[in-house]
Formats: sequence, structure tokens, C-alpha cells
Amino acid sequence: MSERKASLFDGINIPSSKSKTKRIAAVLVQTLVDDKSPTPKRLTLNEFSHEYEELPIKRTLNASIHKYFIEQIYFAFTTNTIRIRQTIHTVKFWAARPNIHCLAIFERKDLASANLMNSYLAGQGISCEIQTSNIIRFEERYLELIEQVWSSSNSSSNASVKTIQWFAFGDDDTVWFLDNLLETLQQYNSSTSIYLGNISDKLEAIRRHGTYYAYGGGGIIVSRPLALKAAQHMKDCRRFRHFFGGDEMIGKCITEILKINLTRNQNFHQMDHEGDMDGYFESGIQGLVSLHHMFSYWEPFPEEHTTNPRETMNLLKLAYQTFNHNFLKRYVRIDQQTNRTFLLTMGYSFSVINRILTHDELMKVENTWWCCSQFVDQETRPKEKNKTTWYFRAIASQTTTTTKRYGAVYENKRLKDRVAQFPTIEIILTN
Ligand SMILES: *[C@@H]1O[C@H](CO)[C@@H](O)[C@H](O)[C@H]1NC(C)=O
Ligand SMILES: *[C@@H]1O[C@H](CO)[C@@H](O)[C@H](O)[C@H]1NC(C)=O
Ligand SMILES: *[C@@H]1O[C@H](CO)[C@@H](O)[C@H](O)[C@H]1NC(C)=O
Ligand SMILES: *[C@@H]1O[C@H](CO)[C@@H](O)[C@H](O)[C@H]1NC(C)=O
Ligand SMILES: *[C@@H]1O[C@H](CO)[C@@H](O)[C@H](O)[C@H]1NC(C)=O
Ligand SMILES: *[C@@H]1O[C@H](CO)[C@@H](O)[C@H](O)[C@H]1NC(C)=O
Ligand SMILES: *[C@@H]1O[C@H](CO)[C@@H](O)[C@H](O)[C@H]1NC(C)=O
Ligand SMILES: *[C@@H]1O[C@H](CO)[C@@H](O)[C@H](O)[C@H]1NC(C)=O
Repeated sequence: MSERKASLFDGINIPSSKSKTKRIAAVLVQTLVDDKSPTPKRLTLNEFSHEYEELPIKRTLNASIHKYFIEQIYFAFTTNTIRIRQTIHTVKFWAARPNIHCLAIFERKDLASANLMNSYLAGQGISCEIQTSNIIRFEERYLELIEQVWSSSNSSSNASVKTIQWFAFGDDDTVWFLDNLLETLQQYNSSTSIYLGNISDKLEAIRRHGTYYAYGGGGIIVSRPLALKAAQHMKDCRRFRHFFGGDEMIGKCITEILKINLTRNQNFHQMDHEGDMDGYFESGIQGLVSLHHMFSYWEPFPEEHTTNPRETMNLLKLAYQTFNHNFLKRYVRIDQQTNRTFLLTMGYSFSVINRILTHDELMKVENTWWCCSQFVDQETRPKEKNKTTWYFRAIASQTTTTTKRYGAVYENKRLKDRVAQFPTIEIILTN
């Protein structure tokens, strides 16, 4: 890493910041040859090094109503002593953040020693409070989360916990992107009754289970007044406890008993498809608040890049910390001479597609997952036949003066050609 750091920006001509988009001055792509010499030779691949056009954001952001802080959200999930060890890297991704309020519920008999679990979580940097429940069925414990987290908040001696604005429920394999969540919440008023989340992205799932509720793995957000009402009506709501999922029970409780409908937001990602989700990651989902089912249904990187959950989460964390709200934002360059499309997805991938994609095509999701599940509410296009992708590996350099510069290394382990093995993508952000 340090070798790359020293040489990354040497002798590169940075185009003047004249592009139309305000924030990105330039995206340059060059390759590093990893030849193990102390100062690696750098070959600039002219065909990659140009200014890239920023692709528009699909989502609509309404006016900001209020700015919230992480201390104003109370996260809760239920798990068991076996699952938590399998999903620990997912939990750690978000729950290790300082000042986070978080509650983890275990079944009483399953949790032989709360102390042991406490020190296991603490060892991972996770400070979630542990509580137990007598309810054996996982899905029913999920329904009870609302009441349990409400009373935990209400009985706290900490004033900031007592006045929590939002309650967030997820699975133990829900990845929360906390800064994006805070940004998304800005458009909602926590003093009104809000039930926020999204339905599944898989057509079969919504045909079977419906569209009235927030699918739990994608995350459920409940505002303070609504959480209070739900806690007060929990007796009524238990009539739904024989439903399939805890998220459905919560949905029935809130929509039928409390008469508040789901507010859908596209930043919540239930992720019910299986296989490669590259196409989805490259479809412009920046601002994402959650991901779900990683490692069980799908993996973000191909096998030769990494399938190790710890390494995968570390890569995603590094990318998200570096690029923040720009993580997964897309930049494109069309090369009319060679009929190729270059697509950069920040912190995730750099793809070269051997044909020219139209703007409309670029706004559709490339169907890379297993046949033949259908996406909800999104237009798709067939899997590309001739596409080469380099995946995010490292941040090679970062300097902060008046501009922000990032050198990000994307690699493709399948390519034998060493020259093209490590295109290093330099991104210059200006404010
Ligand atoms: C955002 O604006 C759209 C269009 O005016 C509206 O339908 C939607 O409910 C708004 N969302 C929020 C969170 O206010
Ligand atoms: C109360 O919670 C806040 C975070 O919301 C934390 O910074 C503070 O230290 C807590 N106070 C006490 C007394 O634990
Ligand atoms: C909140 O706690 C107070 C005691 O601190 C109690 O009187 C009140 O009933 C509780 N409210 C709810 C809705 O649980
Ligand atoms: C939020 O909702 C409360 C309760 O309805 C209202 O008093 C307040 O003015 C709202 N705030 C904004 C910024 O709309
Ligand atoms: C909630 O959704 C139901 C079913 O779609 C609809 O009939 C009802 O009018 C909605 N209620 C509100 C307050 O929007
Ligand atoms: C989630 O909600 C948004 C906003 O209503 C919608 O446009 C989007 O398509 C939804 N996502 C899915 C998978 O349904
Ligand atoms: C690019 O595509 C155009 C139109 O299909 C074709 O005429 C041209 O020969 C192609 N150029 C190359 C270099 O393949
Ligand atoms: C992919 O495109 C490149 C460049 O146009 C070409 O050389 C190669 O043969 C193509 N591969 C396949 C499998 O079509």
C-alpha cells in the first residue's frame, strides 16, 4: 500500500475542473504494475483516463425537515447464540459506531450466560445492550421488539435515550448504512406517526406476502409517537402472532390496528434475489440505507475477489467510510471510437462493456442474479455478454486540502495480463 501511495499522483495531468457537475472534478483511470520494485512503474492507460460523466441519481429527495443524530435512533434486533456468530461481521459493520443505542434480544433459555455474550460483543467493539425474552419463536420475538425497546427507552435514566426519535428494527443480517440513514430521515418528521421501509425487491415475494408492510430484513423505522401507540396496543397486535414473519405481524399491527400506512423509501433494500448482485450494485443505488441477506443469498464480490465475510465487510466499510454519500454513485464514459462503455461505481467496481450503452439502458438494472426471479418496480436489462469488471480493493492515497483526492485500487484477479490487473482510479472531489 505504501508503495502505491508514494507514486500515485506523480506526473499525472489532472484536467482542469470544468466539468458540468459541481462536485466531481475528474475521474482518472490509470494502471499500476505491481512489479514489487520499491517504486512501481506506472503505465497510464490512455483509453481509461478521461473525464467521466456523472450519472443522475434515480431517487427523489424531498426537502429536509429536520436533522437527526445517531443518538436519537434506537436500534433493535433479535437473534440467537449461534446466528450471532455467523452474522457478527454484518452486525459489527454498523453496531460498533460510538454513541449508538442498540438492543439485542435473545431467547432466555438459549442465552446461558449474558456475561459471556456481553464480552463476546464487546470484543467485537459492539456495545448493544442484551436482554432476554421468554418467547421461543423467533418471528414472535420480532413483534415484541417494539414493546421491549420502547420500555427500555422509557425506563432509561439517560435523558437522550428517553427522548429517542426513531426506533429501527432489522434482522441480525441487516447491514445499516448509518450516515445514509440519517440523511434519508431528514425528510421525515419524527413527531408524526411514520412507518418507514420498503417492500421486497422480488416479485414472487410480494405476490406471496403482500405489499402492505416493510420487509424486516431491509429495515423498519418507526417514529416515536407511533412506537408509543404500538407498545400500548401490543395486546391487540398479538392476534397476528401466527403470521409467517415478524415483519408481517408488525405490518398488520401498524396498518390495521393503528391505521398508519407504510411510507416506502427506495433506500431500504430487502435483497431477496440470489446469486450475483453486481448488476444491482452498478445500477445507481447510492444513498442506500440497508442491505440484507448478504452471504446467505448473494455476495457482493466474485469468488476470486473474496467470499470471506470479514474481508468483504472490511472492503465495504473502507469504501463507505471513504466515499460516504457518494458510495455507489456512478460515472460513465462512452468511447465512440472503440464502441465501449466504461462504468465506474464508486467504491465498488470499474466495468468495461464492449458495446455502447444508451442512457436508458444505464438506468436499468443489469440482470446478473440467478435465473429467473423478477425485480419489483425496476426495469432490467439482460446480462452483458462482453464485460470485464475490476472490484474495489484498497484506497491507495487520500489527500485533503481544498480538494479531496482519492486513489482507489480496483482489481480483477482473473485477468492474466498484469498491465491491466490493477487499474487505479483516481477521483478528485471538489467542494
Ligand atoms: C415527497 O414528495 C412526493 C411528491 O410530492 C410525495 O409523494 C412524497 O410523499 C413525499 N415524501 C415525503 C417523505 O414527504
Ligand atoms: C446518554 O447517552 C448519550 C448518547 O446518546 C451518551 O453520549 C451519554 O454518555 C449517555 N449518558 C450516560 C449518563 O450514560
Ligand atoms: C414511561 O415511564 C414512566 C415512568 O418513568 C411511566 O409512568 C409511564 O407509564 C411509562 N410510559 C409508557 C408509555 O410506557
Ligand atoms: C412536525 O410535526 C409536529 C406535529 O405534527 C408539528 O408540530 C411540527 O411543526 C412539524 N415540524 C415540521 C418541521 O414540519
Ligand atoms: C392505507 O392503505 C389502504 C389500502 O391501500 C387504503 O385503503 C387507505 O386509504 C390508506 N390510508 C391512508 C390514510 O392513506
Ligand atoms: C421502494 O420504494 C420506492 C419509493 O416509493 C420505490 O420507488 C421503489 O421502487 C421501492 N423499491 C422496491 C424494490 O419496491
Ligand atoms: C462501432 O459501431 C459502429 C456502429 O455499429 C460500427 O459502424 C463501427 O465499425 C464500430 N467500430 C468499431 C471500432 O468496432
Ligand atoms: C469482447 O470484445 C472484445 C473487444 O471488442 C473482443 O476482442 C472480444 O473478442 C469480445 N469477446 C467476446 C467473447 O465476444
